[in-house]
Amino acid sequence: MELQGKRLVLGVTGGIAAYKAAELLRQMTREGASVQVVMSEAATRFVTPVTFQALSGQPVFTDQWDARMANNMAHIDLSRHADAIVVAPASADFLAKVAHGLADDLLSTLVLAREAPLLVAPAMNRQMWQNPATRRNVATLAGDGIVVIGPASGEQACGETGPGRMLEAVEILDELIAYFQPKSLAGKKVLLTAGPTFEAIDPVRGITNLSSGKMGYAIARAAREAGAQVTLVSGPVGLPCPAGVERLSVTSALEMHAAVFERIAEQAVFIAVAAVADYRPSQPFESKIKKTTQTLAPTIELVLNPDILGEVAALPQPPLCVGFAAESENLTAYAEEKRRRKRIPLIVGNLIADGFGGDHNTLRLFDDDGEHLLPPDSKRRLARQIVARIATLLEKRR
Ligand code: PMT
Repeated sequence: MELQGKRLVLGVTGGIAAYKAAELLRQMTREGASVQVVMSEAATRFVTPVTFQALSGQPVFTDQWDARMANNMAHIDLSRHADAIVVAPASADFLAKVAHGLADDLLSTLVLAREAPLLVAPAMNRQMWQNPATRRNVATLAGDGIVVIGPASGEQACGETGPGRMLEAVEILDELIAYFQPKSLAGKKVLLTAGPTFEAIDPVRGITNLSSGKMGYAIARAAREAGAQVTLVSGPVGLPCPAGVERLSVTSALEMHAAVFERIAEQAVFIAVAAVADYRPSQPFESKIKKTTQTLAPTIELVLNPDILGEVAALPQPPLCVGFAAESENLTAYAEEKRRRKRIPLIVGNLIADGFGGDHNTLRLFDDDGEHLLPPDSKRRLARQIVARIATLLEKRR
């Protein structure tokens, strides 16, 4: 539960995307947050307060003069102990009010009187979003330290296509969880490799492995959440690039090697999560190999690929290097041996049966302090623990 113990105010303003706010609320509470919903009058025309009351388990407030507030200070009391205020959808009108400090209903007054951080997820027609007035207002909000989440581009309720569509509930939730992560890598440059490599045998066949990229992508995302500037060199996978991360897509180990060395200067951290093929065919066939009954099966000669992690670790002034080891057995012995041989401060071990493909993993960290178990968990949460360990090691290095 990523929002356990967090107290949030969910503001809902008038727009067709108000229906998505109900799903956002459900996901917030599922992650352990306690959520107080405040709606603008216009929002109640799209979804009734009853929906939000049922989903939050708390009364919903819409009116500045609500008689349920004994002291008549709903605008102060409702957000007094909040960890954050999230307004989704945030209409053009609402953004304009916040940008200009207007307070003419409960939600805008509460936002003006806030001590908690404010995150807004805009939702509007593309022309409204592109209107110079809205552009100015959004720039003002960003300058005031308000976190603007989205919007996305795509098909809109009005039938037009363009920017202004509110992000999906899960995307807003992700941004919110990211917002709460400690910024332990703020300002640091982090380079990662992830996924498999594909070593061509002929134009349609090759040597590859079952790495899905999920572990590496989760770490890229966690590093970004921790405030790092992240570059992800990715082998062929079907995953979307995490928001705010720069991705360089490669296919073979040689391409991965070239992309890493193109970017390695100035990196504070290098994390090699990729399952890189140790060998590649020395000479890929130019045409598809044909099966014939007359000839013997072709022989494919293999040559060694460069050891990307080993070469980075051997640089005169290497970044903090983190390696991975996936083993079938003897994890501790093999992982420690890899750490010593590649001379890296931290290696993350996993069993092949746990690591490849799925959304969960069990990890063992090996560094100068010994072995440390990270019990079974989602790759996303494990990634945050790895990032925390990296931040500690970086701190020790200073
Ligand atoms: O992608 P997923 O499905 O989520 O799976 C995650 C994973 C199992 C692939 C990941 O957790 C993992 O263990 N990755 C490393 C796989 C491995 O065993 O690598 P290795 O033993 O071949 O290499 C050891 C280290 O050297 C790794 O950090 C690897 O990236 C690096 N290496 C290896 C060979 C090479 N030519 N260059 C390298 O940089």
